[in-house]
Amino acid sequence: MNYNIRDIKLTDFEDIAKNYYLRYEELELNTNLGVSVKREPPSLAEELDFFLGLYKKIMGDDACGKVAIVDEKVVGITTIQRFAKGYETDHIGILGIDINMEYRNFGIGQNLLSQIIKEAKTKFEMLILEVATFNEIAMHIYKKLGFLQYGLRPKALKRGNVYFDYILMCKELLK
Ligand SMILES: CC(C)(COP(=O)(O)OP(=O)(O)OC[C@H]1O[C@@H](n2cnc3c(N)ncnc32)[C@H](O)[C@@H]1OP(=O)(O)O)[C@@H](O)C(=O)NCCC(=O)NCCS
Repeated sequence: MNYNIRDIKLTDFEDIAKNYYLRYEELELNTNLGVSVKREPPSLAEELDFFLGLYKKIMGDDACGKVAIVDEKVVGITTIQRFAKGYETDHIGILGIDINMEYRNFGIGQNLLSQIIKEAKTKFEMLILEVATFNEIAMHIYKKLGFLQYGLRPKALKRGNVYFDYILMCKELLK
């Protein structure tokens, strides 16, 4: 699989929004989708608000964002956002990652994470994330990249009438 990885650009909005809407189609096939989505698909205006908020944080040094590109289209995204700017917890970054279904298992996820973690070392001291207990692939790569489990949030995800626990993981960047 030929792909490259680069920082998020403003012009990525359309692809990133499209990819998010794809998650609703995926959920119909796969109730074990690893990312949680809004109960109802957001409007494009809401998506734009979200994206501009993220972009503003990146420009303000409060987030990092990288995308994987195949044939000039965004097929994967990872972000780290500052926990609470201006508070005593602002050394912490919250990590998320999402690759389009047909591009998973080609190494893109691990590559995206390695690159964003490298950059995050200049902005954050500690990374945290949450991963559903069923998401074995994600847990495998997080452990491989040095994340440790520090807790469990019971019934964190309610999908339909089914509850799933989240495993809480962290990685200290100073070491
Ligand atoms: C989780 C996710 C980001 C991983 O990205 P990816 O590009 O598919 O991952 P990679 O190809 O880099 O690595 C996959 C690894 O999982 C391993 N793997 C595959 N199936 C597995 C399974 N059932 N159990 C455990 N590990 C598995 C592969 O062997 C590979 O590890 P290796 O390199 O040590 O051999 C991607 O699957 C995804 O976007 N999923 C949906 C969204 C999501 O779950 N996001 C994370 C939210 S916490």
